[in-house]
Amino acid sequence: MNFLILGRGKTGSLVAQCAKERHHHVRVLGADQNRGGRALTPDALRDVNTVIDFTTPVSVMEHILACLGAKKNMVVGTTGWYGHLDAVRSQVEKAGVGFLYGANFSVGVNLFFDTVRSAAEAARHKYSGQIFERHHQHKKDAPSGTSLVLQRIIKDSSGAELEITSFREGDVVGMHELIFDSPNDRIYLCHDAKSRQGYAEGAVLSAEWLSGKTGFYDFKDVWREL
Ligand SMILES: NC(=O)c1ccc[n+]([C@@H]2O[C@H](COP(=O)([O-])OP(=O)(O)OC[C@H]3O[C@@H](n4cnc5c(N)ncnc54)[C@H](OP(=O)(O)O)[C@@H]3O)[C@@H](O)[C@H]2O)c1
Repeated sequence: MNFLILGRGKTGSLVAQCAKERHHHVRVLGADQNRGGRALTPDALRDVNTVIDFTTPVSVMEHILACLGAKKNMVVGTTGWYGHLDAVRSQVEKAGVGFLYGANFSVGVNLFFDTVRSAAEAARHKYSGQIFERHHQHKKDAPSGTSLVLQRIIKDSSGAELEITSFREGDVVGMHELIFDSPNDRIYLCHDAKSRQGYAEGAVLSAEWLSGKTGFYDFKDVWREL
């Protein structure tokens, strides 16, 4: 397949490497070649099957709108734009393309989400909960997209709205902790990413899975099928 990867940063460059290893044809654009999404014209995207975005919360909406305008399938790993989720969903439906996004493309984190969903029961039994997330100091958005998903899972399962505390330090790839505390005991759940490889593999598998599909998908709902 022909993939256009947006972002030559920490994750985008690993996605490109992983896609090449899976024998896809890959082109990568960095910020200098794509200010304001100017490289994403229908002509330039003609031979591209799917655009994969790992850029910034500030630039990603321009990329999404340009790709939808060119009727291209898209996989979006960039976080920090979810306030526009409903608007993007309706634009995707209007454009009749395939769109898959995810706050976290790692299978391990998605298993963690399932564990958290069952642990959320604690909030109904006199436990108070807190979410902590730690990332490297260059991460632009806070709280992380993954911690917001954790917060939403617990709210949907138990009605409790947990506070999120964010730390930006060193070169931490991504650590998410959920603590439920009661007078009797403490439940401690943690996911700690060792590298970005899991994100890259999840993004490439998502782009393969999206081929020939239309519709709006969240990675957390489809990862078992990849
Ligand atoms: N969903 C997941 O599983 C997952 C996993 C990891 C990261 N993320 C998210 O993915 C995003 C990127 O993370 P990262 O750690 O790779 O960040 P990063 O290392 O800072 O990389 C971001 C890259 O985007 C480039 N960029 C900015 N505007 C662009 C544009 N218009 N066109 C093309 N490239 C552009 C930047 O280029 P310059 O350096 O030239 O400015 C930079 O290289 C963040 O939102 C992060 O939260 C998601």
